[in-house]
Amino acid sequence: MKLLLIVASLLAVGMAMTDLDIMQATVVQKVNSLKTTWKAGINFEGWQLDDFRRMLGALKNPNGRLPKLENQTRIKDLPENFDARENWPNCPTIKEVRDQGSCGSCWAFGAVEAISDRICIKSKGQTQVHISAEDLMTCCKACGDGCNGGFPGSAWEYYKDTGIVTGGQWNSSQGCQPYQIKSCDHHVNGTKGPCQGEGPTPECKHKCEASYSTPYEQDKHYALSVNSISNNPEATQTEIMTNGPVEADFTVYEDFPTYKSGVYQHTTGGVLGGHAIKILGWGVEEGTKYWLVANSWNNEWGDNGFFKILRGSNECGIESDINFGIPK
Ligand SMILES: *[C@@H]1O[C@H](CO)[C@@H](O)[C@H](O)[C@H]1NC(C)=O
Ligand SMILES: *[C@@H]1O[C@H](CO)[C@@H](O)[C@H](O)[C@H]1NC(C)=O
Ligand SMILES: *[C@@H]1O[C@H](CO)[C@@H](O)[C@H](O)[C@H]1NC(C)=O
Repeated sequence: MKLLLIVASLLAVGMAMTDLDIMQATVVQKVNSLKTTWKAGINFEGWQLDDFRRMLGALKNPNGRLPKLENQTRIKDLPENFDARENWPNCPTIKEVRDQGSCGSCWAFGAVEAISDRICIKSKGQTQVHISAEDLMTCCKACGDGCNGGFPGSAWEYYKDTGIVTGGQWNSSQGCQPYQIKSCDHHVNGTKGPCQGEGPTPECKHKCEASYSTPYEQDKHYALSVNSISNNPEATQTEIMTNGPVEADFTVYEDFPTYKSGVYQHTTGGVLGGHAIKILGWGVEEGTKYWLVANSWNNEWGDNGFFKILRGSNECGIESDINFGIPK
């Protein structure tokens, strides 16, 4: 009944509803009526479901995982709350939320966000760079298929073996290769304009923007080592506290796009795809343990671009494929 009213009122104000609008209206009503640990609302207004699905570009790696992290010095008495933004205030990239635009490059974003943070953390705030999603997404052929999805573990392997140059957000003119795909609205009433249907993956170029003075090869940043952790929340927490944020991926269900606040857990709807993100901390909210996560759908989506997801029970696979590395 309530759903019919939502649909009717949207139709009344003259908006044509897409398949995703209708799905979200159903989900929002259901989630909010269940009084679970999170609140839902309409995001992605006017998007087609297929366009949303294409953003979910974290694919299962046919070549398996990165080597397991061994011999970790475990931190005893892990704190109840940890937020990398507060622990390393001199590393501003930790606070940032990027925008993958209409492209399934989340696998690259989760990696370059965490790499940028880790370079700063390791240098104690001396080296502040944005590592380029553009370079990684367009040039790493072993990573998958650019905007059509890729393998988070392979992104880290590429960082170690081939290196990645610097490059900021779209229209930032920052670094060697800023992102070339436009930021756009992943949210109702956003300020960035509509997301266009997905274009092709931009070409791999072994050179920097004309305005950037360092040559491409000299601008590369490399990892000393890359590793993974699977289904071990304490080891993941120790890794984040010791070396900085990590990349993770999880299964996106139909209710996730409507996230607004609280601790997400799957409540209703079927699978839409796999999505990669950056985990930067953890905590407990009203008795519910969560991971603190940065998404790459800009600051206007979700909780200022961030979300929280249930911690300790491998919710939607969030704990099963943690990837990271140590900068050279
Ligand atoms: C971990 O420790 C074992 C036993 O000391 C050693 O054989 C192994 O090489 C170590 N692994 C790494 C990655 O350092
Ligand atoms: C791109 O950046 C320029 C320079 O900062 C700014 O003036 C312009 O508004 C930006 N364009 C968009 C669409 O955000
Ligand atoms: C979007 O913006 C318009 C005009 O500012 C406002 O009337 C409307 O309520 C907003 N819609 C949502 C869902 O925030």
